[in-house]
Amino acid sequence: MAKATTQFVCQECGAVYAKWAGKCDACGKWNTIQEEAVATPETSKSVAGKSGRKIEFVDLKGVTEKTFRLKSQITELDRVCGGGLVEGSCILVGGDPGIGKSTLLLQAVAKLSDGVNKEGSPTRCVYISGEESIEQIRLRAVRLGLSNSKVELASAMNVRDILTTLDTNESPDIVVIDSIQTMFVDTLDAAPGTVSQVRAAGHELIRLAKRKGFILFLVGHVTKEGTLAGPRVLEHMVDTVLYFEGDRGHHFRILRAVKNRFGATDEIGVFEMTEQGLEEVANPSALFLAERRGNISGSCVFAGIEGSRPVLVEVQALVAQSFGTSPRRAVVGWDVNRLNMILAVLEARCGIILSNRDVYLNIAGGLKITEPAADLAVAAAVVSSLTQKPMPSDMVVFGEVGLSGEVRAVPQMDLRLKEAAKLGFEKALMPSQFSHKKKTTTDICIHEMGNLKSLVEFFVK
Ligand code: TYD
Ligand code: MG
Repeated sequence: MAKATTQFVCQECGAVYAKWAGKCDACGKWNTIQEEAVATPETSKSVAGKSGRKIEFVDLKGVTEKTFRLKSQITELDRVCGGGLVEGSCILVGGDPGIGKSTLLLQAVAKLSDGVNKEGSPTRCVYISGEESIEQIRLRAVRLGLSNSKVELASAMNVRDILTTLDTNESPDIVVIDSIQTMFVDTLDAAPGTVSQVRAAGHELIRLAKRKGFILFLVGHVTKEGTLAGPRVLEHMVDTVLYFEGDRGHHFRILRAVKNRFGATDEIGVFEMTEQGLEEVANPSALFLAERRGNISGSCVFAGIEGSRPVLVEVQALVAQSFGTSPRRAVVGWDVNRLNMILAVLEARCGIILSNRDVYLNIAGGLKITEPAADLAVAAAVVSSLTQKPMPSDMVVFGEVGLSGEVRAVPQMDLRLKEAAKLGFEKALMPSQFSHKKKTTTDICIHEMGNLKSLVEFFVK
């Protein structure tokens, strides 16, 4: 029998098949299997000894040029990007439709076009939209008060046209593509927005950006499941991935860096959506606590850290009689498994019976918290709701809870206390290890908690 010269390989996981199939059995993905030539002894001969280019090795130390960062003048955006936009970098901005991605980028390029680039000449910014007509974008610019800015606007979808336009000697400094899902490469049959089109269009545009050294912003709509359409193909191709999150019901938005080759991840920028577009929020804690009512049971202020800065948020819990066979646990803004753990610890270690009660937990304002440091605040809110005793309204809480009920130290406790002091809080409920290491510099009255039991005593005393 003649040997097969082609094989079928899944482009997602690399599984090899003799026949084509619609679904890859190994990773479960659809339409990822493609035909490839089999490596035969003739085609896979070793390249050793053939004349290649000699690579030069160098020391780790040496003078490296300081990377130039273009400042967008939008402090929140610059911080999330690691202190400014790096030349030749590609930034993917993901988020739900209608969250404000186009607004943010239009405001950013308008500000950038007023500044100067590395050479000192005015920054040339290009905004290419495949979603909105020129008229629509102009209307938005009027609304944002930006109609006099020097941004160059175009409505286009064909990547070939975009490449031809940008691949000139006077290439721009910044290019915004809104959105990558509307772009198409005309050599592919697939419809715009499909994985292969998103991948091909992204690849072509990123290659040009690297060659020409311009900063490329790609806008991507997030699907319901929270992934960027086109199974995250773009995420590993770009240098920075930013997510623009928020709740339609709330007016503030959070820009979060989930990947950054040129700075720290987990950094957040906070914006408020107003009639005149997005406004920066310099003091997020004040915004998140703005609607807090004091002296209500089940409410507690958590002193958290988002990226490099402290943020105070209100944690709300409601413990109610359960009428179902299994009690409900509903969570907004936190991890439901983490809540279950805290409830189990309260039950097993402190004798607080919660298995016949529904527990609802909400992080007020719509912020999503991932820090374990919120454990103690969640426990305090739950116990406060159960005992109907309000927390002191001038108290902040933070600390991680272990399975034996111990309260553990968390990073940057001093920073949390400083932020609390700045906002007028006078007491803090926190892990006890603190005093052994370093005295706080604030004059906040500290209540140390070694164990969840002492938290329960705090309420029941
Ligand atoms: P948009 O930037 O078009 O979202 P995306 O590009 O992520 O799809 O934002 C549209 C929403 O923002 C729309 O619901 C209206 C609102 N908006 C304001 O509230 N104020 C404004 O100044 C602008 C321009 C938009
Ligand atoms: Mg848009």
